[in-house]
Amino acid sequence: MPKGYTRTQIVLHWLIFAMLIGMILNEDAIGEAFRAYMRSGTFTQTPLVAAHVFGGLAILALVVVRFAIKARRGAPPLPENEPALLKLAAHGTHLALYAILFLMPISGAVAWFGAQGWAAEVHEIFKPLLILLVTIHVAGALYQQFVLKTDVMNRMRKPE
Ligand code: HEM
Ligand code: HEM
Repeated sequence: MPKGYTRTQIVLHWLIFAMLIGMILNEDAIGEAFRAYMRSGTFTQTPLVAAHVFGGLAILALVVVRFAIKARRGAPPLPENEPALLKLAAHGTHLALYAILFLMPISGAVAWFGAQGWAAEVHEIFKPLLILLVTIHVAGALYQQFVLKTDVMNRMRKPE
């Protein structure tokens, strides 16, 4: 089992984090374009619309790379002194985060390229879900740092 994450894994974790913030901040243009397209079959292409589409597809590509590295290497074990229930919560949160990282761009692409209203609705529901999971994830990281006083936070800062 690896003792930590590689530099590539750490860069991908924080790069994807930054890109997700960019995507959530840049949601209005694509929303408008999508509604216009569904209404009239045409929309105005703007740099912000393209940034959402290509930014989202780039995230999907990076998540595939990230998942492949994790599947091949395995993940460092959680600290020994962490209660079993919290370990389960941590693993569950990571798994759910990966599921959303895959399904969010896929649902967006199905909505956009297939002009599917239902996929747009699914895509919208993922936004609060993602925010909720990240909040739990960050709370877990802070709990590790300040209550359990483990090295988990450092693992996403310094490569193994
Ligand atoms: C991880 C990647 C992505 C994130 C985080 C993301 C995030 C968002 C958010 C927050 C919204 C606004 C939802 C709302 O109105 O409440 C949105 C709307 C939309 N996104 Fe994405 N998106 C991603 C990838 C994509 C991709 C790859 C595409 C297309 C190829 C896409 C197409 C759309 C469309 C068409 C809408 C408008 C849907 C609607 O308003 O009902 N998204 N996206
Ligand atoms: C969109 C935001 C985020 C997502 C999607 C995300 C996702 C993940 C995932 C899936 C893992 C499991 C390891 C892996 O497979 O790469 C992980 C690990 C980690 N994340 Fe995040 N993360 C996000 C934001 C943050 C933030 C803001 C913090 C800091 C407070 C943070 C701190 C950590 C730490 C410390 C680990 C290592 C856990 C361990 O060693 O077991 N993450 N993150």
